[in-house]
Amino acid sequence: MTDGAQDDGCPYRPIIGFYHAAHCQGKDLFARIAVFVRLTGEAPLTATILDGKALSETIRAEVALEAAEFIAKTGVTPCLAAVLVGGDPASQVYVRNKQKACEKAGLLSQLHRPPAETTTEVLLALIDRLNRDPAVHGILVQLPLPKQIQETRVLEAIAPLKDVDAFHPENVGRIVQNRPRFLPCTPLGIQQLLLRNNIPIAKANVVVVGRSDIVGKPMAIMLMQRGPGGDATVTVCHSRTRDLPALTRAADILIVAIGKAKFLTADMVKPGAVVIDVGINRTDDGLVGDVDFEAVREVAGRITPVPGGVGPLTIAMLLHNTLAAARLQQG
Ligand code: GUN
Repeated sequence: MTDGAQDDGCPYRPIIGFYHAAHCQGKDLFARIAVFVRLTGEAPLTATILDGKALSETIRAEVALEAAEFIAKTGVTPCLAAVLVGGDPASQVYVRNKQKACEKAGLLSQLHRPPAETTTEVLLALIDRLNRDPAVHGILVQLPLPKQIQETRVLEAIAPLKDVDAFHPENVGRIVQNRPRFLPCTPLGIQQLLLRNNIPIAKANVVVVGRSDIVGKPMAIMLMQRGPGGDATVTVCHSRTRDLPALTRAADILIVAIGKAKFLTADMVKPGAVVIDVGINRTDDGLVGDVDFEAVREVAGRITPVPGGVGPLTIAMLLHNTLAAARLQQG
């Protein structure tokens, strides 16, 4: 057998033994085991790539179209004010990419760059000014902030209607109560990637690895909510989780946002699972995700690459939220 066409008539390829076994459930047990043993000797199939970059371009084009309609109707051009404290090279790249994306979609952007030694009070004064400025619709304070800054106070100071990151406690509370104003950009991008690739979320076992305020926590909440894009059974794992591989191997959808290069290895993945890699780690080998991509792609059914997976979607959803903020403020 060379192409996986099996003599028992099962259409599922051998590497996806899980599906193959499930499909053949009505057949004699020993015959099924014999077929499976014979088939596992075959070359494995590699996962389909979930192309976040391509989807981000689609979403950015959608936002550009909607923004043009909004501008024509209201005479108002949505504007994002980005605040970048200090000169962290990675943060500079992220903020520059966000600004470029705004420009391409026909949105305005501002960049405010207080020095690394700035104080919480100075930052709060800047936020207050941006809150009051009717020409600014969205405010984004790039994280992480320098150690001397009280991050919670700064994020709490952003006017909830301009909070395009959805980090303000009022917006977080609304998400938890399933009446969101904004959804945070990275989890929203991942949810869109799943939905638009027709990956079933309802009833799926989702495992989120990582419990950050930016990704892990909101992602878990969004996927467990009642309704479209939700209804999953979600498990959140973290650094204190006991027997992590046993939990990750139960996942139909595995979302990894732990911030450790190549943390998720092939033995931690169920054959055929959907693997979403949120990590961006700068290593001697270049940019790598939280997933050991080359090994995991031999086991997973679908997988996001790094770069070109989740990252571009985060930016696309920021544009979406900036337009949504302008609409909200327009009444
Ligand atoms: N740093 C890493 N991700 C993010 C994000 O989504 N928003 C902000 N403001 N900072 C970040």
